[in-house]
Amino acid sequence: MPAYIVIGAQWGDEGKGKIVDVLAEKMDLVLRFQGGANAGHTVLHGNTKYVTHLVPSGVISGCALNIIGNGCVVCPFTLLEEMQILEKQGVCITPANFVISEAAHMVLPVHKYLDKRLNERIGTTVRGIGPAYTDKISRSGIRWETVVKGTFEAAYHEHLDYVEKVFAVVDKDEMDRLRASLPQLLETLEKLQPFVQDARPQLAEAIRENKKILFEGAQGTFLDIDHGTYPFVTSSSTSIGGAFTGSGVFLDFDKRIGIVKSYTTRVGEGPFPTELLDANGEKLRKNGNEYGATTGRPRRCGWLDLALLKRSCLINGFNYLVFSKISCLSGLGTLKVAIDYDAAGKPVYTELPGWDEDIEGCRDFNALPENCRNYIKFVEDFLQVPIGLVSTGPDREHVILRKTLFTS
Ligand code: IMP
Repeated sequence: MPAYIVIGAQWGDEGKGKIVDVLAEKMDLVLRFQGGANAGHTVLHGNTKYVTHLVPSGVISGCALNIIGNGCVVCPFTLLEEMQILEKQGVCITPANFVISEAAHMVLPVHKYLDKRLNERIGTTVRGIGPAYTDKISRSGIRWETVVKGTFEAAYHEHLDYVEKVFAVVDKDEMDRLRASLPQLLETLEKLQPFVQDARPQLAEAIRENKKILFEGAQGTFLDIDHGTYPFVTSSSTSIGGAFTGSGVFLDFDKRIGIVKSYTTRVGEGPFPTELLDANGEKLRKNGNEYGATTGRPRRCGWLDLALLKRSCLINGFNYLVFSKISCLSGLGTLKVAIDYDAAGKPVYTELPGWDEDIEGCRDFNALPENCRNYIKFVEDFLQVPIGLVSTGPDREHVILRKTLFTS
């Protein structure tokens, strides 16, 4: 069965957008299974730049059905605004090609407020993600089904009564502001209601009919609520397990694609053993334009961490790797790669010779400098998973295909 899943192998921002975009145009169904507007995909089609945070990428390339799965948390205002911008750019979005699972949870204004007030030490994107998932798990959240059932207004009042009881940080003025946001929410939800459905029967039918399906992961494996660098994580299951709870129908993925950046980056707080706080870190940030797609924050940069990636392969069962942003390593001199940690938790490095040639846009593996080819082969041998595709630049044509992604 032609089913694909794309997952970030590190801390997010590995360059998933580009590969998802290339795959999405060949798919019958694209599904997002976790996260919310904390994710950010920028896709270039010719001269047009599309930015998505919530809507699955298949909408842009014209794929048949795009689903926001039940594992996601969705802010109505952010979603409607994103849909309107895409529509202005000529993207067609109708209930026939876009579905919001009725079991997905809502991100409400109070969640964004709480995120700002409570989560500073984590360095979140302040999109209300953590508080929305907290409410989901504590069984006090609001699902999108309330829009269809006509129970949203009552649920909203009930939720704010709960917030008032539980959160001392929400003062009286803020409570008044939150209660006053109801009319605007109702107006927005009325526009979104036609898109809200039980998405599971449509997914089950696509599987039964052997349709081409893509699950589009957001963030990266080490931001996973269970397997990441807790508590410096996001609040969803970003690794492969999230695909099952976040969609509701079992799918045996043929291609479990891990996107690996050829160095490491992370945004926000938390451990980062191979972080570079020197000129090389600066150089990587500059070469890779490493600034957050959602918040614009400068990303922390460091050497490739293969010890971490080995774990990522175990967690996700990757059977195909995409190695991205290799052109950003040109001119760095000797490259270090972490292969283990010592007793104190410090990385143990191996050194590999670097290269100076500009390789941006290269499409032929054999045309790469020998040291670059050896770097790629070293990673592949260490992880014991084939690197099927090497990305050599921002354009969708800037790729070296070593192993096809398509079974038929
Ligand atoms: P939250 O997802 O906004 O709760 O943020 C939790 C942590 O995950 C913070 O360190 C964020 O910077 C990080 N994070 C969330 N989304 C992304 C992403 O799409 N790329 C990289 N980091 C992210």
